[in-house]
Amino acid sequence: MNNFLHFWSAWLKGPHRVGAVAPSSPILSQAMLNAIEDDGEGMIVELGAGTGPITKRLSRQFPAERLLIIERDANMARHLREQFPELTVLTADARHILTHLKSRPCCAVVSALPLLSLPAHDRQDIIATIAEAIGHNGQLVQFTYGFGSPIPKLEAQQQKLYAHRERFILRNLPPATVWKYRVAKQA
Ligand SMILES: C[S@@+](CC[C@H](N)C(=O)[O-])C[C@H]1O[C@@H](n2cnc3c(N)ncnc32)[C@H](O)[C@@H]1O
Repeated sequence: MNNFLHFWSAWLKGPHRVGAVAPSSPILSQAMLNAIEDDGEGMIVELGAGTGPITKRLSRQFPAERLLIIERDANMARHLREQFPELTVLTADARHILTHLKSRPCCAVVSALPLLSLPAHDRQDIIATIAEAIGHNGQLVQFTYGFGSPIPKLEAQQQKLYAHRERFILRNLPPATVWKYRVAKQA
């Protein structure tokens, strides 16, 4: 099965769980990578890798031992392992990244999770986990199809996350905006 068929088969099973109508375009995928400020050593965790358009670029830019790829859908995760046998691809929920990171410092979480479509308590769990994983030195790079922040303002404040709107990408279906978050250093 090719990438589009894998994507559509997951979409048919649960459109809200996939949260997109098509895989990210090459331009959006590259914009996600360009937003990463690399510290040269920390882990790069991809959440919701899907059929792998962002994974492909991550695998070209970072050594395999710095990458941890997470996808909840078992079929898509299997397809990712076939495409990227050198990478660690886990069939796992984003809520469990701390277990999989095993205390390794995290430079960036790169997420395509459909945060605003998730139930609020699931989203809040995931955001709290990401904030703990990136700490004060890492960053969360996230895209959204909406006009506003992909993390509701109050939920970002609860985790001391401050947002920066990085780039609007017209050439994606639908158009998307890349955002970056960091955890504030002050109390
Ligand atoms: C919008 S798609 C993005 C796919 C791909 N990264 C891209 O950019 O085309 C979101 C992906 O997140 C996955 N996903 C949704 N909730 C998840 C969760 N809690 N943990 C891990 N993956 C999840 C879905 O299965 C889907 O593959």
